[in-house]
Amino acid sequence: MNALVKVLVLCCFSIGAWANEVPLEKVNVATDAVTISRGAEDLMNDCHSCHTLKYIRYRDLVAFGIDKQKVDAWRGDQAMDSPLLGQFSDADAMQSFGIVPPDLSLMVKARDGGSSYVYSYLLAYHNSPDGVLENPVYPATKMPDALGIASATDAAQRTEIQGRARDIVSFLTWAADPHDAERKRLGYYVLGYLIVLTTLLYFVKNQIWGRLK
Ligand code: HEC
Repeated sequence: MNALVKVLVLCCFSIGAWANEVPLEKVNVATDAVTISRGAEDLMNDCHSCHTLKYIRYRDLVAFGIDKQKVDAWRGDQAMDSPLLGQFSDADAMQSFGIVPPDLSLMVKARDGGSSYVYSYLLAYHNSPDGVLENPVYPATKMPDALGIASATDAAQRTEIQGRARDIVSFLTWAADPHDAERKRLGYYVLGYLIVLTTLLYFVKNQIWGRLK
């Protein structure tokens, strides 16, 4: 009986939590270098002033294949080995926003919904009928509408902003696991090696056992 009550209470709570969540817009994350590079550029323009990416260094961007001249322009007098630090000190951010903007390096892994969460969050800003900026994905957020989606009214402008959000999220997905592609490539080599090794061992075994006949 006691257990049944617990199960019922748990169910009610989960249904309550579920009912409060707005559905996320699913993003089709790109993994090609062109999109990811474009996303890096947009992130440097639209997000980097407030947010750090402390696990990504400028050197990683060059190693990935982003034009070195661009990376040099982004880093200014910071070293190639420096992580992507934002321009706000924690104290200044506290004063401006009342909160320090979180590091974005692992953001797509840190939130339920991953890439789709970040994408939906960026695009959820809109003005209520009485002109108050709202974000149903994170109603209490202290972040301004960084991409300006709330004030974009014509369709072409909205499509451009949605494209930019997708590029940025694709970059952030790469940033959360920069060695993903490399690991997959290595996986194919290992598989190939195992297949060759198995074939060779098969022939060796046949030879050895053949002598017994
Ligand atoms: C003007 C400063 C500013 C800019 C520009 C900015 N952000 Fe933020 N961002 C913030 C602040 C402040 C928070 C913390 C919000 C909170 O928790 O109330 C935040 C939080 C976030 C979060 C975490 C939300 C969560 O669920 O906790 C993500 C993701 C994010 N920003 C992504 C971005 C991206 C991507 C861009 C560029 C398109 C961007 N931000 C541009 C200030 C900024």
